[in-house]
Amino acid sequence: MKTAAVFCRTLVRVTGPALIVLGVLFWTGHAMSSISLHMALGVVLVLSLWALAVLAAVARVSLGLVILSVAWGFVVPILGVVQTRLLPGPAHWVIQVLHLLVGMAALGLADTLATRITSVAGALRSPGRPSAVATPAGVEGGVARR
Ligand code: HEM
Repeated sequence: MKTAAVFCRTLVRVTGPALIVLGVLFWTGHAMSSISLHMALGVVLVLSLWALAVLAAVARVSLGLVILSVAWGFVVPILGVVQTRLLPGPAHWVIQVLHLLVGMAALGLADTLATRITSVAGALRSPGRPSAVATPAGVEGGVARR
């Protein structure tokens, strides 16, 4: 589980900055031919976020965070696709900033999930710590062992 979480976090840490760099290029009127690459990277990011949410659910990390992350994974691409039609005119920068902030929040959620998953997985493995792994003889690796 820890390996999968680290893999997904790596995907997010690679795609996230690439998305922001491409976005800033679009913002300044450059690299417009790379919009489909930007969208494809966005899809990878969302799939990684959802994978982390599933791993977090299995690891029993906060259910609220899991639900928020799954929902956020819908908001990011929907806003990304419809943004060009929202608030056309001088106020369109508001939508552009919103798109950037929503995307960055997705990066933050993914990172938080990965951190929680790896700490839960690490805690279950580290000896000497009270754990929830029950064995016929008692609690394996926990303070209940004498
Ligand atoms: C599946 C997810 C995503 C889709 C479909 C998507 C789509 C798009 C599109 C179509 C544009 C060009 C808009 C235009 O022509 O004016 C754009 C721009 C941009 N994107 Fe994304 N994007 C996604 C995810 C992200 C993420 C996760 C970030 C940041 C972490 C991001 C940051 C930006 C920025 C800064 C711009 C330039 C400003 C703007 O036009 O909004 N995008 N995105």
